[in-house]
Amino acid sequence: MEKIVSLCKRRGFIYQSAELYGGLNGCWDYGPLGVEVKRNLKDYWWRRNVQEREDIVGLDGSILTHQAVLTASGHVGGFSDPMCDCLLSKARLRADQIEPQSGTAYHYSGASGGDWSIERKFAVLLREGQNENKARKTARQYYAQFHPDKSLSPKTLELQGETTSEENNTTSFNPENGSLLTEAREFNLMFKTQMGASSSEDDPNAVAYLRPETAQSIFTQFKNVLDTSRMKVPFGIAQIGKAFRNEINPRNFTFRSREFEQMEIEYFCRPGDGLRLTDEWLENRLSFYEDIGLPREKLHVLDVPDGERAHYSEKTYDIEFDFPFGCQELEGVAYRTNYDLSKHQEHSGKPIEYFDETTKEKFIPHVVEPSAGCDRTVLALLCEAFDEEDVVDSKGKTETRTVMRLNPKIAPIKVAIFPLLKKNEDQVKISREIQEELGRFMNVFYDETGAVGRRYRRQDEVGTPFCITVDFETLGEEEPELKGTVTLRHRDSMEQERVAIADLLPRLLSEIR
Ligand code: GAP
Repeated sequence: MEKIVSLCKRRGFIYQSAELYGGLNGCWDYGPLGVEVKRNLKDYWWRRNVQEREDIVGLDGSILTHQAVLTASGHVGGFSDPMCDCLLSKARLRADQIEPQSGTAYHYSGASGGDWSIERKFAVLLREGQNENKARKTARQYYAQFHPDKSLSPKTLELQGETTSEENNTTSFNPENGSLLTEAREFNLMFKTQMGASSSEDDPNAVAYLRPETAQSIFTQFKNVLDTSRMKVPFGIAQIGKAFRNEINPRNFTFRSREFEQMEIEYFCRPGDGLRLTDEWLENRLSFYEDIGLPREKLHVLDVPDGERAHYSEKTYDIEFDFPFGCQELEGVAYRTNYDLSKHQEHSGKPIEYFDETTKEKFIPHVVEPSAGCDRTVLALLCEAFDEEDVVDSKGKTETRTVMRLNPKIAPIKVAIFPLLKKNEDQVKISREIQEELGRFMNVFYDETGAVGRRYRRQDEVGTPFCITVDFETLGEEEPELKGTVTLRHRDSMEQERVAIADLLPRLLSEIR
């Protein structure tokens, strides 16, 4: 991961947000190449799921969300994670992600120093083999926080009421430093904000939320879409957009962020079709991932067991990917029944029913939801593409080639164009003409600096699948029959072939779509 994160920064894929000011935790900025990768992914998802299908239409809902919407959906009351704080370092941890530990707990009732004393319970867990003085040192550091003299050395404090107990598989202590944690409390993950200039803090009508999923605007606009687009069930509404969650522990680069993008489809159907369509969507989504370059053997399906699914779901498959930091969720395919539409009908008091012309039945449609994370997919693609290999250069020297083996559909630059010699005016002129011609259809990059081998390496590192070199043959100076042809070099095999300039556009278009 370190190599990937460093390449992402060095070559302009992904930067830490507000890095200039020490960084905004859980937020990321996509640089010139990252933004291209992300757009390519979103465009391809949209083309496959909306433009190429008759039964799915799109939506672009607002990010600011009416509190009534999220009250009806259950997010205001229940979208929370259990959270606890380390009494010593103040680090905030997800209570359900703490590894159970065993060992000896040292308990204290307080501490004193000179005429100062404090009565407050604290404890430290020592794992087998750790020295008891470690527990005392940690406890002194804890009590020293309460001493009025902040320069006081914790060593001068005397601990009160030391007792010990044996603990088995406890999650009450911070695995990092052994300190006792607070009791777990529910922590709502939504970002709340005030709307309007004169809003007062306690005016409930002025409260809005940054949406925690794109799904809810699809449900609240279901009726409008139905009435204005004449869709018939089964049909879907798709949306790509930002979602926000105040994650307690953002981690693993962009994997768990506080601001991220989702690509969601709500596929409305008759009640009896929900389970079958969930299975169909699972297969559809797996083939999508294979199509963009994630191999099937690195994708895993978790059939989420009863009791672990979201409250609204009768069936959920998690599609997981083998990231370098472990096998983790990429997308959820959930059968949400008619939970959301029913709740919005109940809370708004307005009918959201569907009338089936053929059966003359009225019902609230059920929904299957394939919900993918755009940033997570980009991360998976970058991880999968990253490769280092030993190659022998033209002088027989072995060097390491870093190559991003991105699928051409996803690669940020589709083709790089080089004149062999930047001083050769004819080569430069032809290269610029090719750049202009291809640039109308795809992202191209012109480079004339450095040896051609170095230029290839620079493109390999950012995943450019093709490089075109305009050379003396192109001008017809060496072999007249090669006039009007260029070298087309392939990133993965490093093979080169001669291609007529006139054939470049159709050839490349067929490779990058
Ligand atoms: N509408 C259903 C829903 O939002 P979810 O499993 O909470 O379900 C769907 O989220 C997908 O969104 C996840 O599979 C993941 O790819 C992405 N996602 C969720 N939380 C994320 C986070 N904090 N950072 C990045 N991506 C996230």
